[in-house]
Amino acid sequence: MSKKLLVGNWKMNPQTSDDAKRIFASYKKISVKISKTVLIACPPFVYLPLVSLTKGQKKVLSGAQDMFFESEGAYTGEISPRMLKNLGASHVIIGHSERRNKMGETDEIVSKKTIAASVAGLIPIICVGEATHDNDGAYLEFLRNQIKASLSGLPIAAAKKIIIAYEPIWAIGAAEAMKPEDIRETALFIKKVFADIFGQEVALNLPVLYGGSVNWRNAADILSIGQVDGFLVGRESVNVPGFIELAKAMDQV
Ligand code: 13P
Repeated sequence: MSKKLLVGNWKMNPQTSDDAKRIFASYKKISVKISKTVLIACPPFVYLPLVSLTKGQKKVLSGAQDMFFESEGAYTGEISPRMLKNLGASHVIIGHSERRNKMGETDEIVSKKTIAASVAGLIPIICVGEATHDNDGAYLEFLRNQIKASLSGLPIAAAKKIIIAYEPIWAIGAAEAMKPEDIRETALFIKKVFADIFGQEVALNLPVLYGGSVNWRNAADILSIGQVDGFLVGRESVNVPGFIELAKAMDQV
């Protein structure tokens, strides 16, 4: 059985490198006590050197929260895929709903970034998710279109090495996560859409993560009933006691 993934999206936290070191130290500490779960710390760019280049560290991987799709040149303020790779990052979150909604990131940009990440040897964690969850299935149609557009132009060989994070926007930063039964249904739908694009075999091996108000209390149910391969967590990723309990809860499933 492949390992479960616990990806911590630190978002724009914390404000000091001392705090970043403290949070990361807790990742390292818990990583040696778990065996079925891989931790991936995704801090703001400026802290990546703190989490990526620690000597002898193998149990916690590191990733970025974004990157630019061009490889180098006159793009003030941007970070290239190779810069991340050279810092030791293995993963990169692409198309988070906060970037799509607050920074105007389109499906087209997401697809360009996904391709560029793959070319650079980074594993893209592509975020998809609907804003509202209706009962008549319109959200499934939205998801289908978003997935197709976000992966447009991606070669099959690259599609074999991506991760999809399903993050319903209404469940992010909320009081409760989506119901595990609904997560299961939507995760299956995502694999079906993926199969339509890349074929059944590739879809069978696609890791689908869930994100949105995951914590140590709901993690086991979401994993076992929701049938996902892990989580992309926000608040709990920088809440040291909560993160430790979450990693332990996941590892017991
Ligand atoms: P929360 O875990 O805080 O709901 O955030 C989810 C998220 O946006 C992770 O990318």
